[in-house]
Amino acid sequence: MNLVERLYGEHDEHEKNMNMLLAVIDEGGDIQKLKEAFENFAKELECHLKEEEEALFPELIERLGPQAMPVYVMLQEHEMMREIVSRVRELHSKGEGGEEYIKQLIDIVRQHIMKENNVLFQMARQVIEPDVLEIRDEIAEKVRKEFGVS
Ligand SMILES: [Fe+2]
Repeated sequence: MNLVERLYGEHDEHEKNMNMLLAVIDEGGDIQKLKEAFENFAKELECHLKEEEEALFPELIERLGPQAMPVYVMLQEHEMMREIVSRVRELHSKGEGGEEYIKQLIDIVRQHIMKENNVLFQMARQVIEPDVLEIRDEIAEKVRKEFGVS
């Protein structure tokens, strides 16, 4: 598979998971259901961030050289997402819903996806040859196995 195509597909998957999660929040009440919907989304997200960081970003940083700033901005946003995920998990362990943090996370992820889809991935297609993207995809596949995500 082509790595960029895979990552686009995973963004679509996040969008579905986030919509499900928002639907559970709107229903209100059932904390167990909320936790499950959150973990379903968060596990996929954490895996995806690692795939980008290990398979795509190093190649992109090398190719872009001094113009790699957008990649570093994406990395900062990844850290922000991870912090909110752990904050929500902490609240869940105390029996709280953490709905406000979840909504904040969803906003950040949606904006982040737009930037990657419209800017970063377009750059990747321009500067990385398709056959290299095929090879780098094997790294993403390995990360998914490590995360136990199919
Ligand atoms: Fe992404």
